[in-house]
Amino acid sequence: MTPIELRCLPTKLQKKHQSSTSGGLIARLGVDKRCKGQGFGEWLLIDALAKLLSASDSVAFPVIIVEAKDGLKHFYEKYGFTAFKDDESKLFITIADVRESLSEL
Ligand SMILES: CC(C)(COP(=O)(O)OP(=O)(O)OC[C@H]1O[C@@H](n2cnc3c(N)ncnc32)[C@H](O)[C@@H]1OP(=O)(O)O)[C@@H](O)C(=O)NCCC(=O)NCCS
Repeated sequence: MTPIELRCLPTKLQKKHQSSTSGGLIARLGVDKRCKGQGFGEWLLIDALAKLLSASDSVAFPVIIVEAKDGLKHFYEKYGFTAFKDDESKLFITIADVRESLSEL
């Protein structure tokens, strides 16, 4: 878990989750450099999202957050993450969007 700054989320989400103080955090996601580009990063990210979605059933939180290293913003955007207003390297995706996306798999 990680603290969230509600004011840095889009207004609609701020209103919807006024009492939320924490989000789920994806950290240290990585693939051995010898295995890059073979789909393992996608698999790991989807697995992490599925685990956090499951955790959110027990400990309610509205968003999942990642701090993207240099050059990786586009990797996360490809999977539906959006950059925070105040920090382009910090991105979020809502639990609602994760639930909807994973239900389509
Ligand atoms: C980022 C990382 C996890 C991606 O893993 P990967 O196994 O190479 O990625 P995949 O092969 O699953 O790629 C999935 C998709 O993401 C895209 N992608 C991969 N790396 C990307 C990058 N740096 N920027 C944008 N898109 C990227 C791929 O092109 C692919 O899209 P496609 O299917 O349309 O071609 C891996 O490069 C890594 O471990 N990096 C070093 C550690 C790190 O920086 N982790 C992130 C901490 S925030």
